[in-house]
Amino acid sequence: MKFYNFKGERVFTPGPVEIPDRIREVLGRQIIHHRTKEFTDAFLETRELFKKILNNSSDNFVFFASSGTGSMEASVQNFFSPGDKVVAVVGGKFGERWAELGKKWGLEVIELRVEWGKSVDPERVEEIVKKENIKGVLVQMSESSTGAYHDVKALGEITKERDTLLVVDAITALGVYNFNPDEWGIDVVVGGSQKAFMLPPGLSMLWFSEKAKERLNDRAYYFSVKSELKKQVEGQTAFTPAISLILGLRESLKILNEVGMENVEKKYERMARGTREALKELGCKIFPENPVISLTAVLPPQGIDADRLRKVMLEMGVRVAGGQGKLKGKIFRISHMGMDLLDMVHVLSAVELALKELGSKVELGKGVGTYLEVISS
Ligand SMILES: Cc1ncc(COP(=O)(O)O)c(C=O)c1O
Repeated sequence: MKFYNFKGERVFTPGPVEIPDRIREVLGRQIIHHRTKEFTDAFLETRELFKKILNNSSDNFVFFASSGTGSMEASVQNFFSPGDKVVAVVGGKFGERWAELGKKWGLEVIELRVEWGKSVDPERVEEIVKKENIKGVLVQMSESSTGAYHDVKALGEITKERDTLLVVDAITALGVYNFNPDEWGIDVVVGGSQKAFMLPPGLSMLWFSEKAKERLNDRAYYFSVKSELKKQVEGQTAFTPAISLILGLRESLKILNEVGMENVEKKYERMARGTREALKELGCKIFPENPVISLTAVLPPQGIDADRLRKVMLEMGVRVAGGQGKLKGKIFRISHMGMDLLDMVHVLSAVELALKELGSKVELGKGVGTYLEVISS
């Protein structure tokens, strides 16, 4: 079946995600110079709006002109020293990245391996932290490669009263969950622009607690949190900022704050629940045991290759992501980040049609119907 789309393809990948018109309008404006009052005012306003996303009033955060990995690296560089012992939770591609970064910067990394798709058992972390002098626990709140949720609140209970920093890659969690790092005992939070902030890639966020601030060193140059913080609290940056992305972020944060993070989380939770019920009706399985609400990682029905399914969906103008690393060809992943409730009707329709084309016995409309039932109840 040919679709002859006029509108090109729609992007349902867990980053980058589609950019709302309100933000695109801002991104398309003529550049302004950053060493101006206009930029400083906009930047300070952006910082105030960002605090609300974290239910926090602290100034302890910086934005870097980098993709999310930049702020992951900055966390390892700025809060730890060579020889520091850390635990990296490795349950997917991004957990592996924590371990690699730690080793690269001379830390002694204990890799806590978790089966892909499973969530870390906090007791395993507690056991290590009790026995050894662990300076940090590095973990994903949302392990986007598997769609698994790691219980950072439970980990926070373990690290809170110790000399251990809880460093959370929240790249696909910030802007999704009603985040509260103080209450949850998180010391470092990393975010990225192309996920729930619905911006192009190129901006990362790094928030930290007072406990983490005491550990700040001055090892890094471009990624120096100390020198950036000094400038950024005054509305400036050490180097040329990603000006357009900062202005876009201000708009994005306005949108999120207008809806309110409590409602944003409710919306994603409903979307995720409906999507999963629908996919199960279509013979698919949800890959992770305890899934996040920012994306859904899916095992197609038996006998259907995930990458073939994706290819057929792409012919309809619907792009979803595949599996990464050892999950290549086995799963496909649908983003909820940046999506509206009815957008899932579009992607689920494509899943149904693609399954049918690949010979799966589907009753067209069954998944979509289930989804609508779930979100309306
Ligand atoms: C959980 C997680 N961590 C880290 C990254 C890496 O971020 P970036 O590609 O922006 O450097 C991603 C990107 O998909 C991610 O989902």
